[in-house]
Amino acid sequence: MSMNAVVYKGPHEVAVEEVAEPEIRHPNDVLIDITTTCICGSDLHMYEGRTSAEPGIVFGHENMGIVEETGDAVSSLKVGDRVVAPFNVACGHCENCESGYTGFCTNVNPGFAGGAYGYVAMGPYKGGQAEKLRIPYADFNALKLPDGDAHEDAFSLLADIFPTGWHGTELANVEPGDSVAVYGAGPVGLMAAYSAKIKGAAEIYIVDRVPSRLELGEEYCDATPINFEEGDPVEQIKDLHGGGVDKGVDAVGYQAVDPEKEADSAYDPARENPAVVINNLIRTVRPTGELGIPGLYVPEDPGAPDDMAAQGRIGIDFGLLFEKGQALGTGQCNVKSYNRELRDLIIEGRADPSWVVSHRVGLDEAPEMYEAFDNREEGVTKVLLEP
Ligand SMILES: NC(=O)c1ccc[n+]([C@@H]2O[C@H](COP(=O)([O-])OP(=O)(O)OC[C@H]3O[C@@H](n4cnc5c(N)ncnc54)[C@H](O)[C@@H]3O)[C@@H](O)[C@H]2O)c1
Ligand SMILES: [Zn+2]
Ligand SMILES: [Zn+2]
Repeated sequence: MSMNAVVYKGPHEVAVEEVAEPEIRHPNDVLIDITTTCICGSDLHMYEGRTSAEPGIVFGHENMGIVEETGDAVSSLKVGDRVVAPFNVACGHCENCESGYTGFCTNVNPGFAGGAYGYVAMGPYKGGQAEKLRIPYADFNALKLPDGDAHEDAFSLLADIFPTGWHGTELANVEPGDSVAVYGAGPVGLMAAYSAKIKGAAEIYIVDRVPSRLELGEEYCDATPINFEEGDPVEQIKDLHGGGVDKGVDAVGYQAVDPEKEADSAYDPARENPAVVINNLIRTVRPTGELGIPGLYVPEDPGAPDDMAAQGRIGIDFGLLFEKGQALGTGQCNVKSYNRELRDLIIEGRADPSWVVSHRVGLDEAPEMYEAFDNREEGVTKVLLEP
């Protein structure tokens, strides 16, 4: 049996092709019929050829759908259940999983801590930008949702970006009354700013260069927009705030645009500087403040601007960080630590992150939408695919 899926063909190219349907391989697997699967900024690193991903990968780590088959040992799920899967694949019983660090499961991807669907180096798990998906360790990994189709957009964001934005604020220990600077107003940065608002931050600044993204931050997160193309964002924030802010979040990662560099287009690799956001955060945050870094950094970057960066080594101002006594936290989000509570905020109407969704289209439109999202076109913020 075959089905349609989004397949990586090589740099800047994906195609919708027929691939084999998944099958139950272990008694604790379930298969789901995908109802919504999202394109993520993390997919773009692979799409642009900036990872060691080989052509042939089926993309898609942000998946929700309806259970259509269960393995014999599955005890908490039945056919017809509506579920959303964390992008992490986790076993539930290794030391990291038991401690809540499901992004660093030591069982699902031997020799490595952490597994995910449809992602380079994250194990053999096929992506869900397809008609169907196999969820391993399903009792542990599938989060049940209310039946019906209410909140479909908001619930799909529980697979990654809402928990990941929340994770950014957890890593930075955002507390009520804090002043917070979020670098990046992509889906993750917007969700970090939204999380800061939910947690009761007193002041929120959000930095990017895409006006439509900054406007969303202003409208839905009560954040002050800072356009880094209009001047040093650190100085802009300090001028408005009157000194360093309490907490900072990096929702950009290693493919950060350096406003000081020139290139033919905004996201040309020649304009990148993988250290620029972390260094800006060290300057933006006050002494003894905290930095949360969910933005992605890689140990190998085939398209890096220089030899150091190609090995994942970047020039961080560690001396200044030491002098300021700042703390930092980073890494993959442990989605399962947050998704149940965030789901309940959505069900009870206390949070609704669906404003970040700009497009819901058929799977066949994936090639055009990858291109538009990759160019960070005005108005293209979060794209959901409906197989
Ligand atoms: N830790 C995790 O578990 C996790 C999960 C999901 C995504 N991520 C990572 O988070 C990052 C953001 O993801 P996204 O989906 O929002 O992607 P995205 O690429 O759409 O968003 C990044 C935004 O950063 C902006 N930007 C570029 N350079 C900047 C700079 N110097 N200062 C401020 N903003 C700058 C871009 O204009 C863009 O809007 C990516 O690196 C992604 O891989 C990590
Ligand atoms: Zn993602
Ligand atoms: Zn585990």
